[in-house]
Amino acid sequence: MKILVTGGAGYIGSHTCVELLERGYEITVVDDLSNSNKKAIERVKQITGKDFTFHEVNICDKAKLDEAFEVEKPDAVIHFAGLKAVGESVEKPVEYYDNNIGGTLNLIRSMREHGVFNIIFSSSATVYGDPAEIPISENCPKGMCTNPYGWTKWMIEQILTDTAKADERWKVILLRYFNPIGAHESGLIGEDPKGIPNNLVPYIAQVAVGRREALGVFGNDYDTPDGTCIRDYIHVCDLARGHVLALDHINKMTGSDVFNLGSGRGYSVMEVFHAFEKACGKTLKFEYKPRRAGDIPVCYCDPAKAKKVLGFETQFDINRMCADSWNWQSKNPYGYNECEQ
Ligand code: NAD
Ligand code: UD1
Repeated sequence: MKILVTGGAGYIGSHTCVELLERGYEITVVDDLSNSNKKAIERVKQITGKDFTFHEVNICDKAKLDEAFEVEKPDAVIHFAGLKAVGESVEKPVEYYDNNIGGTLNLIRSMREHGVFNIIFSSSATVYGDPAEIPISENCPKGMCTNPYGWTKWMIEQILTDTAKADERWKVILLRYFNPIGAHESGLIGEDPKGIPNNLVPYIAQVAVGRREALGVFGNDYDTPDGTCIRDYIHVCDLARGHVLALDHINKMTGSDVFNLGSGRGYSVMEVFHAFEKACGKTLKFEYKPRRAGDIPVCYCDPAKAKKVLGFETQFDINRMCADSWNWQSKNPYGYNECEQ
């Protein structure tokens, strides 16, 4: 089976490419490198010892996307390509709707024209908004998103579900990720945010490597045991394996289905911070800051459905996640670059 991976040069995409190649899938990657580096593609080849084609294509460019489908003739698509910075999406809503929704509509048309009807889509726990229940199961109603990024996930889920409803050839799996962190054990691929990291673990990792002074902890007055927010962190390699299990499932199902991918266990900001200190063997600086707009106090999933239907269970705990993040960051202080950009 051949898989076309959009956004395959990115953080989660590159780890999923490794997992797919190691499981014997053929792959091809489509990415415009707008938030990634071509070195990630080379490193995936280095880790797996396998070769594959790479198309430097923006999925909003229908003609170029069609070309990739014509040449590659894939059987299924895993769709990671999208812009993902929450704050930026508030400032540039049109760019986010254009890229994420426009790009996905193009992809759907291109797939249909080339007889490809299997798609796995990267959604997010953000679609639950302020969740109506904790732990969050897939039956929890989708909520109100606090930013355009979240709405693009919400709307793409709806577009893909409606597409599968209208034409029974389509098989759609929506994967709602909780908080992916960690890196491949080789330390060759990992998360490489541009500019100041928005997310917790990349920020701590840059403090640990000396690129930033101190972590700002956003709020210590939440109704949680230590006052800081609780999230469901999942090792990116566990997440990658979840995609392969979803592919195994797609051949057996009809219509559309949705799965949470998380560990089902919550950790507070301070618990993650201390786990990272343990992993890097250093005492790191932090300071309490005001709450960040749009943050919810507690978010973790009920992982039962993914376990029952996909046979998915996470293997790596928070210590291993932090150890692997540190291994990547310490071996690549500036990510895929040689110096601060
Ligand atoms: P990433 O930015 O590292 O990867 C996304 C990739 O898509 C990048 O390589 C980027 O260059 C590419 N891309 C963006 N727009 C494109 C376009 N128009 N055409 C072609 N390529 C394009 O992000 P990631 O963390 O690997 O996330 C992958 C997916 O998972 C995204 O859709 C993201 O929204 C979703 N997701 C991520 C998280 C997270 O915490 N990282 C959580 C939930 C959902
Ligand atoms: C965020 C996004 C979510 C997106 C996900 C992946 C928001 C509100 N949510 O999730 O939509 O899908 O990233 O890109 O932005 N924290 C600090 N200091 C920091 C960074 C984070 O204290 O410098 C705290 C946050 O307040 C939060 C926790 O750490 O409580 C995790 O934050 P983050 O890694 O940004 O993930 P989410 O907010 O869960």
